[in-house]
Amino acid sequence: MNQPVMQGLQLNTPSYVKNAKLIAWVADMVALCKPDNVYWCDGSDAEYQRLCQQLVDAGTFKKLNEAKRPNSFLAQSDPSDVARVEDRTYICSAKKEDAGPTNNWMAPAEMRATLQPLFDGCMKGRTMYVVPFSMGPLGSPIAHIGIELSDSPYVAVNMKIMTRMGQAVFGVLGVDGDFVPCVHTVGAPLTEGQKDVKWPCNKTKYIVHYPETREIWSYGSGYGGNALLGKKCFALRIASNMGRDEGWLAEHMLILGVTNPQGKKYHVAAAFPSACGKTNFSMLVPPAGFDGWKVTTIGDDIAWIKPSADGKLYAINPEAGYFGVAPGTNFHTNPNCMASLDKNVIFTNVALTDDGDVWWEGMEKDTGGQPAHLIDWQGKDWTPQIAKETGAKAAHPNARFTVAATNNPALDSAWDDPKGVAIDAFIFGGRRSTTVPLVTEARNWVEGVYMAATMGSETTAAATGQAGVVRRDPFAMLPFMGYNMSDYFQHWLNVGKKLEATGAKIPKIYTTNWFRKGEDGKFVWPGYGENMRVLKWMIDRIEGTGKGSEHITGISPAYEDLNWTGLNFSAEQFKTVTSIDKAAWLKELELHTELFKQLEHHLPKELGETKAAIERRLAA
Ligand code: OXD
Ligand code: MN
Repeated sequence: MNQPVMQGLQLNTPSYVKNAKLIAWVADMVALCKPDNVYWCDGSDAEYQRLCQQLVDAGTFKKLNEAKRPNSFLAQSDPSDVARVEDRTYICSAKKEDAGPTNNWMAPAEMRATLQPLFDGCMKGRTMYVVPFSMGPLGSPIAHIGIELSDSPYVAVNMKIMTRMGQAVFGVLGVDGDFVPCVHTVGAPLTEGQKDVKWPCNKTKYIVHYPETREIWSYGSGYGGNALLGKKCFALRIASNMGRDEGWLAEHMLILGVTNPQGKKYHVAAAFPSACGKTNFSMLVPPAGFDGWKVTTIGDDIAWIKPSADGKLYAINPEAGYFGVAPGTNFHTNPNCMASLDKNVIFTNVALTDDGDVWWEGMEKDTGGQPAHLIDWQGKDWTPQIAKETGAKAAHPNARFTVAATNNPALDSAWDDPKGVAIDAFIFGGRRSTTVPLVTEARNWVEGVYMAATMGSETTAAATGQAGVVRRDPFAMLPFMGYNMSDYFQHWLNVGKKLEATGAKIPKIYTTNWFRKGEDGKFVWPGYGENMRVLKWMIDRIEGTGKGSEHITGISPAYEDLNWTGLNFSAEQFKTVTSIDKAAWLKELELHTELFKQLEHHLPKELGETKAAIERRLAA
């Protein structure tokens, strides 16, 4: 019998689970968390339906109108649990300097001592779900396995969509395969007979990573990246450590394929801070004037990228679904995404219509107006009048959809290819209303790393905190970096040096800024599908046919270097989104100086040299 018994509780280990380390770890965690029951997820559709029904019965899920939104559900979270909690997120490396100045740090022993009493008995009255998952196609040389233990069935069903989750993972794991242990609790044990709430959570929250032992411990939140531990915690914070040690990259990047009318295909990986349109860009529909061009999605949020012997960088999307921001999504901003959401979706914190469908701000652009009545994300009545008087949002600004990648009509045929796709270009794009031009090409890898390292962006609702403030967000990784940021810059430089040594054509690096505003405070660049015009220029540059001119930070196109067919966008407007204001750049560089001061421990000297070169050009 491989059914260890802990304090009278069956572990219920399925006979096909043979990994001794896993079984021992589950036994330890059961002894600590003291759940009433242990359930090993098999990842089947029947299991998904069963758990969804259980969530409906518990009041966590509302089943949506089957005719309008088949097999879809709405969850409305506790109002205190609506986003990632960056100030409660820790990198507990043995040495503080290895977490670096951009991360919260606590010594591992101290953190373990802090968490021990919180986790002791934290799952009483609940079931512990054992959730086996693969980040990346099962068995891919770029993929890795995780096991999440969670007392949240909401997490289990979301993980089914977001990852390759289920029984087959144990086949890859075998008897002695390695996995990243991820423990998650909502931190709301139930006493005997206590009635549960719809969205259990705890006001105390800890999202903890131990990089040396590759462990994740999450306490107190049931929401998104705090709870679906395969995503930010594993695929970025822990994987960035793996990547540094093993010579690869774990990045906050979408991956897209773009095919020209002659059938030649390119692959681009793009990093944008949270809620800056990564999902939209990854599903871009080419506009008028781009007949025969096709954009296809490999991933919308995370890329794992490994150098190969042929001198190329191959990327996979470690996820299998999208956990995207709903507000702002409509048939104009992202028609492919809207089509993806027509069935088999879990919505969280959007509004409910009177006919049992979902609604969020931005949808009025499709329907020509707001609905007369809704139930808002907090379960309250909402009308356009109430919204006008109180400013109440129908959907929370960070409301999300969870949907399988296979729902996406623009899904790339290679999205699940274990080899990954060869990357031709990297894009780094901040949200800046001033200063940073629409697009800039780095003259070389080091300049590209500089651009990425110094990227600034105005904050959004994806993390708690004030929206609209410019913060430095190097590589769009600030909230997701699993080790010292300067060592990460060095890692990127090292990867570039190795690629250059192979003599292969290395990916070009670009920065973009879709968000420049005019004097009236409105966005000037139309964005969305029109970003294709910039993407095409990048491809022309890769092919050596695209024109551009050098300026202080790199190379940018002139008005006539872009294809304007089908868009009314004047040279004057183009100037507004591309002009380089020397005074603004002098200020910008002061902020780079501030960043480099903060990151001075191990800051690669090449970055200081690149900055000095920009300063010289500015002074000239
Ligand atoms: C996300 C984020 O959820 O970046 O992808 O916050
Ligand atoms: Mn993200």
